[in-house]
Amino acid sequence: MAENARPRVLVTRRWPAAVEDKLSELYDAEFNSEDVPMTVEDFRAALVAFDAVLPTVTDRMGPEVFDGLVPRTKILGNYGVGFSHIDTAAASRLGIVVTNTPDVLSDCTADIAMTLLLMVARRAGEGERELRAGAWTGWRPTHLVGTKVTGKVLGIVGFGRIGQEMARRAHHGFGMTILVQNRSKVAQEVLDQVGAVQVDSVEALMEASDFVSLHCPGGAANRHLVNADRLARMKPGGFLINTARGEVVDEAALAAALTEGRIGGAGLDVFDGEPRVAPELMAAPNLVMLPHLGSATRETREAMGFRVLDNLAAFFAGEAPPDRVA
Ligand code: DGY
Repeated sequence: MAENARPRVLVTRRWPAAVEDKLSELYDAEFNSEDVPMTVEDFRAALVAFDAVLPTVTDRMGPEVFDGLVPRTKILGNYGVGFSHIDTAAASRLGIVVTNTPDVLSDCTADIAMTLLLMVARRAGEGERELRAGAWTGWRPTHLVGTKVTGKVLGIVGFGRIGQEMARRAHHGFGMTILVQNRSKVAQEVLDQVGAVQVDSVEALMEASDFVSLHCPGGAANRHLVNADRLARMKPGGFLINTARGEVVDEAALAAALTEGRIGGAGLDVFDGEPRVAPELMAAPNLVMLPHLGSATRETREAMGFRVLDNLAAFFAGEAPPDRVA
């Protein structure tokens, strides 16, 4: 980069206007005006042309994107907390730093997990569809009877920031008992804040919980963490909520468990290969599905953008970016 030249920055999707304005003020910024996911070829061209590339969850940056390149790009500032769509090992081999946007989306993602939990337990999706279809015949004692949430057991897989926010809502708002399964040992004082108990295995958690909510990272290590065997361990009538990543759940096994009535229901905000939704899921009963809305509030989407800007500012000032993940 010539001295005094502003870094060239590519933003792969449209961002909230306030953040785009700030980016344009600070950098030589370009925005993917078509607002569609970039292709492998687009990325390879971008990595040799820009100093920073700012991708999102819709940008599949596998090994083929990085293979054999001599990049100009020094930093990938991911707009989002999850980064399993980026081959961080391949990026690191080329000397590219990767950052994400933790914290700022924890509240809103936990809100969507709680929304799904309540919707599926109380059959709110079914009720809304029935009413809009003009099929509601009036109040009756046996109509759309759901499951009480207050006082039940919620099992949380992955006790990072979002899992902890979910626990807070469920415990303090709904008097739920919290079980936690996490890769590493969670500090006792963190568990105590929500009266939680950490269990040793996903199996133990599935067996003991009325509701299971997934808050672990995606990627190869957690692919089909919830599989047919683990679904079979859930309590009859239990509920599964996924706001993490689609690949964490074996969707065919989930659809079978729902169709056969082995579990009570599920709520999904994320899908394997989204925006495609597996036909088995479309046909499954007792399932509430949302189009990846976890962080979708004005406040959060702006905060995510400004968090990327903080990382860029630190990086281009020669400091350690606060949210470096690779
Ligand atoms: C996240 O931040 O990981 C959300 O799922 C959107 O990418």
